[in-house]
Amino acid sequence: PLIQFITHDGNQYEAEIDAGSTLMQGAVDNMIDGILAECGGACSCATCHCYIDEAWIEVVGPAEGIEHEMLDVVREPKESSRLSCQIVVTDKMEGLVVHLPESQY
Ligand code: FES
Repeated sequence: PLIQFITHDGNQYEAEIDAGSTLMQGAVDNMIDGILAECGGACSCATCHCYIDEAWIEVVGPAEGIEHEMLDVVREPKESSRLSCQIVVTDKMEGLVVHLPESQY
C-alpha cells in the first residue's frame, strides 16, 4: 500500500510499503526523515513515534500493552500516538496518512 508521511512542518512524502512489513521498516527503507527507530523495532526505544491521522485511527487501532507504556516517554504524546514498529502494514492501509513528530526526543 501507498502510505503518506507528513512532517510537522507540512512536507509530504509517499512510500510504497509492502503488506506484512512494519510501518517503521517501510519508513526507514524509504529514508523518511523523522523515524529513527534506534532499537530496530523491539518496542524499547520509542524513537519511531508517529501520529496516525484521525481518519485512520480505526483502521490502524490503538497502542496496547508495552507499546502503550512506551508512549509515556515520547515527546508530545497524543491520542493518536503509535510506535511505528508495532504497526504491521495491511492492504487496508492503502492511502494511510501518518504524521511525524517534530522530534523523537
Ligand atoms: Fe524502537 Fe519502535 S523502533 S520502539
